[in-house]
Amino acid sequence: MPHRVRPDRARALRRRLLLAGGLASLAGLAALGGAAPARAARPELLVRFSHVVASGTPKGQMALHFQRLVAERSAGRIRVEVYPDSQLYGDEDELEALKLGAVELLAPSLSKFGQAGLPEFEVFDLPFLFDDLAQVRRVTQGPVGRRLLERLAHQQMVGLGFMDGSFKQMSANRPLRAPADFKGLRLRVQASRVLVAQMRALGAEPVVLPFGETRRALARRVVDGAENPLSNFLTQGLQAVQTDLTLTHHGYLGYAVVSHPRFWTSLSAPNRELLQQALAESLEFGSRLSAELDRQALAQVLQLPHLRVHALSGLERAALQQAAQAVHQSFEQRVGHGLLAEVRLTIAANI
Ligand code: LMR
Repeated sequence: MPHRVRPDRARALRRRLLLAGGLASLAGLAALGGAAPARAARPELLVRFSHVVASGTPKGQMALHFQRLVAERSAGRIRVEVYPDSQLYGDEDELEALKLGAVELLAPSLSKFGQAGLPEFEVFDLPFLFDDLAQVRRVTQGPVGRRLLERLAHQQMVGLGFMDGSFKQMSANRPLRAPADFKGLRLRVQASRVLVAQMRALGAEPVVLPFGETRRALARRVVDGAENPLSNFLTQGLQAVQTDLTLTHHGYLGYAVVSHPRFWTSLSAPNRELLQQALAESLEFGSRLSAELDRQALAQVLQLPHLRVHALSGLERAALQQAAQAVHQSFEQRVGHGLLAEVRLTIAANI
């Protein structure tokens, strides 16, 4: 077993390096976190890709697929190092790391861009907005998605593409079938104002926590429950700290891959083209995998001996939807009236 530095010490060290702009120290750092990929001859170009989830999730697999494609197509000239599981940076510091040039690629969930000054991305967090992934794709792969990716330039990011995630389900130590069940519960959410409001509308107390701290907070009963796609629920081992999973399918969680303009424009045209093409294929690969892994994860959770899984009736789901509906009106202004109208039209235009 590789020696692992305690996460809090590794994180403090990362912070110091970040503040010092300690780029050269990153290789050593990765080794401290036990995350250092095997070192080959020095590549011509190094691309560090950091994300917060496990390698076995659709996003984790997408990043590894990208790593493989780039290695093959550049014949080893370009090396992609993937740092999963918040090993290098977590929700609280990854965007800062990108800006400082300590990492070149990130794949944050769309919910994370609101606090980075792009509240329009929180449109994806509106509860019960999308029924299925086909609706989401019409938005992300059409003119709305293109404009949103362009908007990232306002916050010093280059938007390179969307990847489908999946729908979130609620977990706690009791079933969450009706708004009354949410009362008094402290539920973890991402740092999205829409998600905070969603939990309040359902009757719970929202607690904003980085993804990497969620499991520990659940284990210590700092929070009582969370909302996650099934692959994150399983790969974080949340079945060991939650007794009940309710299949609420109430909200969407997806991703955008971003880089920094300084890095992106520094690339030669052939390298940029190679990375762009490999990423586009990897995002498609990841999106297809999301749907497949979600189906597999559902079969898996249903088999878990100590987890009670609750399906909702149409009426129960409608009651949750009604309770959460006020969030749409309150956030119309924050996400943009025009954008929300366009998203609704795109959802409805089933062509
Ligand atoms: C979360 O914080 O719950 C998600 O952003 C994790 C993920 O899938 O990136």
